[in-house]
Amino acid sequence: MGRPAKASIDLNALRSNYRLAQQISPASNSMAVVKANAYGHGAVACANALEGLVPAFGVACIEEAITLRMAGIRKPILLLEGSFTADEVAIAVQQNFWLMVENAQHVEQIVSSSPSAPVKVWLKVDTGMHRLGLDPDELTGIYHKLRDCSKVDDEMVLATHFACADDLDNDATLQQIALFDAVCQGIDAPRSMANSAGLMGWPQATAEWNRPGFMLYGSSPFETPHEIADLLRPVMTLRSGVIGVREIEAGDSVGYAHSWTARRRSVIATIAIGYGDGYPRHAPTGTPVLVNGQRAPLVGRVSMDMITVDVTDLPSVALNDPVILWGKELPVNEVAACAGTIGYELLTRMTGRVPLSYIRGDV
Ligand SMILES: Cc1ncc(COP(=O)(O)O)c(C=O)c1O
Repeated sequence: MGRPAKASIDLNALRSNYRLAQQISPASNSMAVVKANAYGHGAVACANALEGLVPAFGVACIEEAITLRMAGIRKPILLLEGSFTADEVAIAVQQNFWLMVENAQHVEQIVSSSPSAPVKVWLKVDTGMHRLGLDPDELTGIYHKLRDCSKVDDEMVLATHFACADDLDNDATLQQIALFDAVCQGIDAPRSMANSAGLMGWPQATAEWNRPGFMLYGSSPFETPHEIADLLRPVMTLRSGVIGVREIEAGDSVGYAHSWTARRRSVIATIAIGYGDGYPRHAPTGTPVLVNGQRAPLVGRVSMDMITVDVTDLPSVALNDPVILWGKELPVNEVAACAGTIGYELLTRMTGRVPLSYIRGDV
């Protein structure tokens, strides 16, 4: 029934990608990062599918964590950006959320709180990303202050985040690892560095805890082929269908602003997907679309609800024929590159208009 734009989410692929993360670093605990609605895949369904496998989840804020708890997710949940307001500390303790401590305000919020039990803290140090995190020279002092504070759980985790781990030729990651190692010297605590690119691309980056996100959803964080990342299985397939087919003459133009003009007699298929669904408006003419499983180029502007595709070279395209915008057969990273962005953004900014349907498979 209804509009053919739909995203199917393969939860078996999600679990298989998580298992791959575990295999890369079997001695580590790898949490599953499910922030931003599990990168657009539906946080509750994804967390449910992973709950039996993972030691913990990671999210960006307490609202995301509460959504998971209310849906029955029981594993610890790390708030990757820490608390935003002081009242979150007590809630974190009650709900078994872990707090990333990134600055003096976070420290103060914990020290001045009255939690019902000690709060579990991760201490993030800025080793070169320069976005969040304690200064390297503050780490030891704050670690001891919190260790001596009865409101903080005895076992803290020391963490950092990479700026350039997706670029395997960039030494910045090794410099961050070396600085992290140096600032953690003398502190006997578990460590955490690796995101997806760190886990797959930098063996030195794995530690007691890893924090993979994007890879779980089946795409590579690297721009070039990579022997491990190429084993990932895309979790989302964004589908739609043909809702119009017409022949136009050479010299006819298509869509808003008539930005594309046919050089030959052409067959144009109109597809029910647009920027109102999260398909990127900046996808230019030439962006690949799979119509009946075959590649054809998008032509003209992306509209809110539709795109137009030149199917002149495909055999007999008809109304209701199936279309894939990205998925196993067409990497989201490829579509993203055409639109001048990254797969992360396309997956994450899917709008609520596209229904998600789940392929559950065996748990
Ligand atoms: C602190 C932190 N850890 C881990 C991740 C997961 O990164 P990725 O999705 O690249 O694996 C993120 C994502 O931005 C993050 O901010």
